[in-house]
Amino acid sequence: MSDIHLTNSDSRSQAMQLAWKDGLPYSSEFQDVYFSSDNGLLETEYVFLQGNDLQRRWQQPDLTHFTIIETGFGTGLNFLCAAQLWLAYAPQHATLHFVSVEKYPLSLADLRAALALWPQLAAFSATMLHQYNALVHKQTINLYEQRVQLTLHIGDATEQLTRIPNIADAWFLDGFAPAKNPDMWQHALFREMAAHAHHDTTFATFTSAGDVRRGLIAAGFHVSKRPGFGKKREMLCGSFSGKMIGTPHD
Ligand SMILES: C[S@@+](CC[C@H](N)C(=O)[O-])C[C@H]1O[C@@H](n2cnc3c(N)ncnc32)[C@H](O)[C@@H]1O
Repeated sequence: MSDIHLTNSDSRSQAMQLAWKDGLPYSSEFQDVYFSSDNGLLETEYVFLQGNDLQRRWQQPDLTHFTIIETGFGTGLNFLCAAQLWLAYAPQHATLHFVSVEKYPLSLADLRAALALWPQLAAFSATMLHQYNALVHKQTINLYEQRVQLTLHIGDATEQLTRIPNIADAWFLDGFAPAKNPDMWQHALFREMAAHAHHDTTFATFTSAGDVRRGLIAAGFHVSKRPGFGKKREMLCGSFSGKMIGTPHD
């Protein structure tokens, strides 16, 4: 039988009340996990980093800047894994801009507890945790000797994206499972992804839901399936074709 313990929630109205299930961060509201029980860190590496081919792309010697946009900052695990890979492979002078949208930001205490699961990331986490309150209030912080910039937009992903000027080189399409969070996985979101993409923009997501695949195709993405992580049979990844093939109101 699963054991769920609620921890302190943040006082802000939109803050997520983090629960724990089988030792992992869990959302009682969405009835879903923040990352795979098979190993969240390996899932991030497989789905989002490899799914966007980042290690290879970040080794280009003339690379100066790279932007990732993510839906659902959650515990920041995707961010930390991306930052770690960036520092290991990208040219010293280049800057990673990681832009994330989060509707229900975790409190600092919950974030700290969730990230304690990954001692191998402790040095990276400590730096980010130290500036997390500033991030939530000021929106952008610089980390890791200015080699990484992190921006957090608080609010609904689709709504926030209409105001975000950044163009993604890679999309991390995260969020709770489409069946559990249908409000987020709308065609309007996929159209915003296209509006924030260029010809070499890639995306990756843990889900292979048919509605998501069709929505991304309608928004102009080439979509491939690859084996999913852990218990998941398939996941989706791909690139932007340059034009939407659906109608604006699909
Ligand atoms: C599976 S978790 C993301 C895990 C995260 N990327 C990580 O590295 O820990 C899903 C996240 O999406 C957020 N979320 C859910 N609906 C959203 C929406 N409509 N807009 C923005 N964020 C949303 C949740 O609050 C949650 O933090």
